[in-house]
Amino acid sequence: MQNFIYHNPTKLVFGKGMIARLSQLIPAGKRIMVTFGGGSARRNGVYDQVARALEGREYVEFWGIEPNPTVETLREAIALGREHRVDFLLAVGGGSVIDGTKLIAAGLRYEGDPWEIVLRGRADDTVPLGTVLTMAATGSEMNSGAVISRSETREKYAFQGSYPVFSVLDPQTTFSLPQRQIAAGLSDTFVHVMEQYLTTTGQSRLMDRWAEGILHTVVEVAPLIREERRDYDAMADYMLAATLALNDMIRMGVSQDWATHMIGHELTALHGLTHGATLAIVFNGTLRVLREQKRDKILQYGARIWGIVEGTDDERIDRTIARTEEFFRSLGLSTRLSEEGIGRETILEIERRFDAAGVRHGEAQNVDGALARRILEACL
Ligand code: NZQ
Ligand code: ZN
Repeated sequence: MQNFIYHNPTKLVFGKGMIARLSQLIPAGKRIMVTFGGGSARRNGVYDQVARALEGREYVEFWGIEPNPTVETLREAIALGREHRVDFLLAVGGGSVIDGTKLIAAGLRYEGDPWEIVLRGRADDTVPLGTVLTMAATGSEMNSGAVISRSETREKYAFQGSYPVFSVLDPQTTFSLPQRQIAAGLSDTFVHVMEQYLTTTGQSRLMDRWAEGILHTVVEVAPLIREERRDYDAMADYMLAATLALNDMIRMGVSQDWATHMIGHELTALHGLTHGATLAIVFNGTLRVLREQKRDKILQYGARIWGIVEGTDDERIDRTIARTEEFFRSLGLSTRLSEEGIGRETILEIERRFDAAGVRHGEAQNVDGALARRILEACL
């Protein structure tokens, strides 16, 4: 196990009716800006619960943070926040609203253009933020990362912002999610675990078991949620699984990968494909192309998650990769680029972008333009 420092300061406030606690969670006297997406919070009653909890508090609202939040929209939010001298942010929504609000939090304390913060990859100073999560997927409610797009140039990059000071998770808020968003969220959660788990064996028994516990939970609840999305207990397990999948807990002292995500972000930037949907395609390609590099861990994963223990190692790996693709398909997601109308031109553009930036992603830092192309070709 490598050395590490673990410090996650986010307070998790979990369960039915917990949105009512907002008034105690936000310190008195704060000038608050509440941020929202496109309107789901208004339709499913979450807005009313937030407004009730904030009765008597001073706040302004900013609506319209879109899926894959853009710096163009967030500049407007920062301007509104400045105008009202906001010193506390409350994000109400999914990963996009939370990520966007992380950039607002940094932008309010930065003189230059917020895109510079994204390009630099980190924020130095931020206004505190809390969240009310309405969609389980990204883990943004309990981590410091954020992914921001720039529509003008069709780019999408991650930066490190601040951890929310608190996040309220009431699984009932997710009952209104469309099936496709639930599927994308399950895929995202699954691949978050994989990015931190599917590297080399023997680094930490404990991290492996925690990761496998989350994978088992996701595999178990996925069909239950697909059948009945108002199943509170299944949704509660799923929501917490999504948070724990990316709150630093399962990556203590172990190596990580993230190449699938980096390639996926390019597919979103170029085609607008939903984040979790990109992963359901690319991850299979990563497995196929890096099967030798990840051989031992694929065997462990196949045995412990899917019970694949018979046959030669190569047969087991083949079946494990096939079973993984089947899992994504069982969610109702595409697993091939061609199904989404994405072809060779996009693959070459992603290769060009990776080469131009000189990046080398992945646990072994070998996923450059050429390897990204091979991974994508394996998903055609
Ligand atoms: O905008 P509204 O009207 O709220 O609708 C949203 C949006 O259209 C809707 N939605 C959210 N909660 C709902 C709901 N609809 C009905 N009922 C509810 N309760 O769902 C749609 C998608 O929302 P979005 O926030 O975009 O989804 P998600 O949570 O998957 O976030 C995706 C973004 O997070 C980034 C992704 O790249 C993408 O930009 N990620 C952030 C990470 C992080 N901060 O750590 C890590 C991830 O790997 C990911 O990259
Ligand atoms: Zn993700």
